[in-house]
Amino acid sequence: MQKINIFDTTLRDGEQSIGVNLNELEKLEIAKQLERLGVDIMEAGFPASSKGDFQAVQTIAKSIRNSSVTGLARAHKQDIDIAWDALKDSAEPRLHIFLATSPIHMTYKLQKSPEEVLASAVEAVKYAKQRFPQVQWSAEDASRSDKWFLVKIITEVIKAGATVINLPDTVGYSTPEEYGNLFTFIQQNVPNIDQVILSAHCHDDLGMATANSLSAIENGARQIEGTINGIGERAGNAALEEIAVALHIRNDYYKAKTGLKLKEIKHTSQLISKLTGMVVPGNKAVVGANAFAHESGIHQDGVLKEASTYEIITPELIGVSSNSLPLGKHSGRHAFKQKAFELGFELTPEKLKEAFDSFKALTDRKKEVTEDDLFTILTDKQTEQ
Ligand code: KIV
Ligand code: ZN
Repeated sequence: MQKINIFDTTLRDGEQSIGVNLNELEKLEIAKQLERLGVDIMEAGFPASSKGDFQAVQTIAKSIRNSSVTGLARAHKQDIDIAWDALKDSAEPRLHIFLATSPIHMTYKLQKSPEEVLASAVEAVKYAKQRFPQVQWSAEDASRSDKWFLVKIITEVIKAGATVINLPDTVGYSTPEEYGNLFTFIQQNVPNIDQVILSAHCHDDLGMATANSLSAIENGARQIEGTINGIGERAGNAALEEIAVALHIRNDYYKAKTGLKLKEIKHTSQLISKLTGMVVPGNKAVVGANAFAHESGIHQDGVLKEASTYEIITPELIGVSSNSLPLGKHSGRHAFKQKAFELGFELTPEKLKEAFDSFKALTDRKKEVTEDDLFTILTDKQTEQ
């Protein structure tokens, strides 16, 4: 079974979500929960970006022992020096250097030639390697870069000492097939690629971040980067909980697993939602409030008979105590009877039928039937018995 390393960037790329600004204590609380979740690596921030971020990365680096803590740096000596000061006390000092390799980014943003970019990348990795045992190098906008230029620059940064090579789909542009092919191409053409771990980092602009990450795994990626709840720049990053649960549930297909404690997923998701203020949509895969709720009568009946009829993930797997069968206009007699029983009512079949008819009539007038409504209906029928 292939082990996939999980690189969580909730505290760096995730914090780049509009309106999110975590203070040091909040970041530490999230870092501790990520450690309980079992992430292999957590990117605690971008130390050179602000004093606050430096402070938070340093505090996290000092207190987290069971996950490797990293920080982001541009390919500048000053960024690398600042990152070292923040990370030197971590259990396994690790640096993440990024530099864009696509023609669009090199021409307009960096205003550097490919030769200059190559030289900066090699110089930065060599410099970082003097202190950091683990150096990850990311080819920003890799999916829109020239593949042969990627081969050249990756070969050289590996010679300079990089231990992880990341190929980000920075703007969420790739399709799963293209992204997977990029991993295959790099492995086939970079002669020293066996010396490093290949990593995938996907954004969700076209809603394909999870599919792209899984495709990268099928094509040799051994590290996956993302955030909890998929928060991040623009449409966000790949949602780590989706990838981990997909690998678990479809183990027959992927034959790969993460070291995450899946039971910690729901709690981690709720904590991050609370501290970032980013609400998790009800229909969000794995962690949405409706992920284990069944509304239609046919589905509720099926689930009551055998949960696997409509549930491929058990709620317990991710730390949710049970599924829910909210009652609405699509609900059937079976779920209604079950709910009445749970609420402590024992009605004759005749009264139960009358109560069900009243409930159905109410669902035509009211979008959401509450537990109070059910109590009123059921109490009326019980007193008539
Ligand atoms: O999306 C991206 O390319 C990044 C890099 C800094 C790795 O977040
Ligand atoms: Zn990113």
